[in-house]
This record gives sequence, C-alpha cells and structure tokens, in this order.
Amino acid sequence: MTQRPSDRSTVLIVDDERGPRESLRMILEPAHRVLCARDGTEALELIRTHPVDLVTLDLNMPGIRGEELMRTLRRERPEVECIVITGYGTLENAAEAVRYGVADYLQKPFDVVQVSAAVFRALARHRGRRRLTEFLHSLGEVVGLQDPVEQVLVQAERDPRIQRRVGDLLCHLDSDGGGEAGASLGRTLSFLEVLADTVESQSEFMRGHARRTAFYAGLLADRLCLSAEQQQHVRIAGFLHDIGKIGVPTELLLRPGALDPKERRLMERHPEIGARLVEPLGMATDIGAAIRHHHEWWDGRGYGDGLYGEQIPISARIVALADAYDAMSCDRPYRRALAPEVVRQEIDDYAGVQFDPMLAKEFLLILETTGTDLQMLADTTVGDPVLRAAVGA
Ligand SMILES: [Fe+2]
Ligand SMILES: [Fe+2]
Repeated sequence: MTQRPSDRSTVLIVDDERGPRESLRMILEPAHRVLCARDGTEALELIRTHPVDLVTLDLNMPGIRGEELMRTLRRERPEVECIVITGYGTLENAAEAVRYGVADYLQKPFDVVQVSAAVFRALARHRGRRRLTEFLHSLGEVVGLQDPVEQVLVQAERDPRIQRRVGDLLCHLDSDGGGEAGASLGRTLSFLEVLADTVESQSEFMRGHARRTAFYAGLLADRLCLSAEQQQHVRIAGFLHDIGKIGVPTELLLRPGALDPKERRLMERHPEIGARLVEPLGMATDIGAAIRHHHEWWDGRGYGDGLYGEQIPISARIVALADAYDAMSCDRPYRRALAPEVVRQEIDDYAGVQFDPMLAKEFLLILETTGTDLQMLADTTVGDPVLRAAVGA
C-alpha cells in the first residue's frame, strides 16, 4: 500500500561518509521522508528546525562526535528514536548506546533487510509512545478531571468510555501474535513496554533501569533455582517495577535535591500506582506483589505497606535488591554512580536491614563470579522487547 506523504515519518541520516549516507537514503526514501546531515552541527540544526521522528547516527565523525550528539538528542528531544550505525563497534559503545536508549545498534557494512527492519521497529516504537502520550493527555478531557493517571486508576474499572479508549490503543499498538490469544498477549506486552519506556523517557537517569533490573532479578532468581515460571514472573516484575512513576510529575523525578514531605508521599505512591495499573491486565499475582512491595525493607522501615521479613513476597525481595543494585551503580540526579566495591559493601552493610540477608549473600556471590562487568553485560544482553523474551512470546 502506498503511503500518503502526510503519513510518512521523517528520518534524519547522520554520517560524514558519502557512501553509507547515500545508500541509506536510497533504502529509506521510498517509504520515508529523508533528511541528511554530514556532521553533528548540521544534524543539530536539522533536529532543531524539522519534525524528525528517527535519527540514524554514525558514531565516528569529525567535529561533534556521535556519542555527544546522542546525548544532546536525548536531552533536547527525548521522543526522537535513534539507531546507531557504526563502523567501529565495541562493547563499550554498544553498552553506552543502550544506556542512552537507542532503538538499535547496527555494524557497517549494513544490508537492506537489516536496516529496513531496524527502522520499522524503531518507528513502530515511536508511534506507540506518541499514541500513549496522546492517550494519557486525552483522558483528562474524557472524564473532565485534571490528573490523567488518576483517571486511569480510578475510572478504568468502571468507565466504559475509558475501557474503549484503552481497547483502541491496544488494537493500534500491535497486531501481531498467533491467533486471538497471541495477539492479545502481544498487545498487552506492547502496551506495558511503551508505558515503561514512557516512564524512562522522563529522565535520562532512568534510561535502561527497567531492563537492567529485569536482568539482575532474573540472574538472582536463576541462582535461587526458582521454577521457570517464577523466574519469568520475577523478570517481568523487574521490568515493570517502576511503571507507577507515570503518576509522578517529571519535575519530581528530575529534582536533584531532597523532596519535601508532600512530594515524598507522592513519590512513594509509585509502587501502589504501578500495581493498580497492571491489575486489570490479569497478570500473575506475584508480579503485582513484586511491583507493590519493591520498596519494603527487610526490617520493616521501607515504604508500601510496612511489611517486614518474609511477609514481603520473595519476588518483591528479589526485585528490591536488583533495583537497589542498579540505582547504586548508575548516576542519579543527586550523585554519581558508586564504585563497584562501594556498591558491594553497601549491599553487605544493608543485608538484614534493607535486604533479605540470604538474597544479599547470593547476589554478592553472583557479583564475585561475574566481576565488575555485570552492568555492561546487562546493557548489551538485554535488548528490545524485554517482556516478549521474558514470556517467550
Ligand atoms: Fe521504585
Ligand atoms: Fe527502580
């Protein structure tokens, strides 16, 4: 089917070499509106003056380097998707690319099928995210309330108009999967992935956090020899644990300083909001429980429902540890990433206080056997789409 020009997405190709730039243009031009830039300065100018949906980016360029452009793009236009296409791929820059939320990472020389598939996936993700944002905003008008997230939570169970809107959104997000059951599962997972991505796009410090938490939680569940089903639930919960942050104003997520008591209460509602968001989707109970209780402490001083010790579901204790490990090993608005030995010490110090002591011991053993490369392993191993891989869909 021929696309009307207005339906076309705009792709910006950034490459200092004429050969790859022109071949990309030839591959993409039949289906997309294409812009080209020979260096970072030209690229920034185009990004600031044109409605760009996707950027394909060469890392090795004179002047503004690709990595710098990637960071600027993330800061200024977080909604624009980015595919890195590079001639000198290393594990480090692949990991950095994933950390910056790039949709794909391709090595030169690329082929037509590879590029077309990557562009198709990235633009589908872009459209999904835009629909979700529009959807959340439009909810305010539908029921005449100010807070769109509260509407999802409070009204979704009883308002058929909202249920129809969610149904429409899910139908448009994804139409693959085998048969009705497969398609419905695919749509639900796509919806949740877009939701998790939307949360992460609010702050550069959150980028990749869901995927890495899922990865670490999966490693720990595997080490504990949980059943395959439990391991799958723990990975899904790890991926979705902060989904309730969709209900926290972006300004609070980015705030470098301490929050006042009212703001803190708002932030501390995210586990409960997250659990309520996934509840109507009929997922296993231990997934919802892990989301709801991922900030409980072993000694009862965490937040959520004030549970302690083994009252806290095991899935939540695992996700809590994976979550804290990732938070400590990455930069935060208020501090730089902690050194690996400091992170290990913190986990040891807080075993029996914040963390289940048995789980903390096992996690430290994982860190010991894999060395300090666990974060890079997570960044390069865990791709898109996480949830489908987790449930084998
Ligand atoms: Fe959280
Ligand atoms: Fe988290």
